[in-house]
Amino acid sequence: MMQVHIITPFVQMVESIIGESIIGRAASKEIVQYSLHNLFDFADPPHYKIDDYPFGGGTGMIMKPEPLFRACDTALKDCKPNEKCHIIFPTPDGKLLDHETALELSKAQRLIFINGHYKGVDQRVRDRYVTDEISIGDYVLTGGELPAMVILDSTIRLIPGVLNSIESAETDSFTSYLLDFPHYTRPEEYEEIKVPEILKSGHHKKIKEWRVLEQRKKTQERRPDIWKKYIELKELR
Ligand code: 6GU
Repeated sequence: MMQVHIITPFVQMVESIIGESIIGRAASKEIVQYSLHNLFDFADPPHYKIDDYPFGGGTGMIMKPEPLFRACDTALKDCKPNEKCHIIFPTPDGKLLDHETALELSKAQRLIFINGHYKGVDQRVRDRYVTDEISIGDYVLTGGELPAMVILDSTIRLIPGVLNSIESAETDSFTSYLLDFPHYTRPEEYEEIKVPEILKSGHHKKIKEWRVLEQRKKTQERRPDIWKKYIELKELR
């Protein structure tokens, strides 16, 4: 069972997201076990401060090292000697999240998320503990909770048994290096817009060809970077 530890000053926010999602269901299926660590529990009395002013000046608060060091040690406590463990720090200056990263993380036995806030965390935490600094895109969010949940969701859904066959990850965009094709359901005509004839033909081979064609068209138009990967992969095959 994969152990997922989340270190955060906002435990309830993380709880509510996990509680209402497929990543939460992975816990009921005993594929994943979640442990949430409230960062304030690791801070020193009497003030339980988790942040402080930056050395060298500047605006914004920096998360103090002591609570984070203690929380990381707790999350690492029963870790086996050669356990595959990633300590993830979601940060806009990290490596961009993609399918390969999610796939790699999905094979780990333990994931530890350090959710940063304020201006940043003391560099010593990153130097001592963090193995993966990951960004979810070129924009800035106010905290690490939402990115941590994005990284976690993209990872957990790739563990065999988490999704059922209907939700299956095999035909997703990125698994195949092509963006998804258009989907339709009933009614056949709505507001004078018709479902493409081919999808109602029952001709499975033709439908498959149509879908791949649509995928290729969309990928070429929207994501030349992914299209390049797809072509390279095809040439290897
Ligand atoms: Cl991982 N964190 C924050 N705060 N902002 C982000 C991000 C992460 N990735 C993109 N923007």
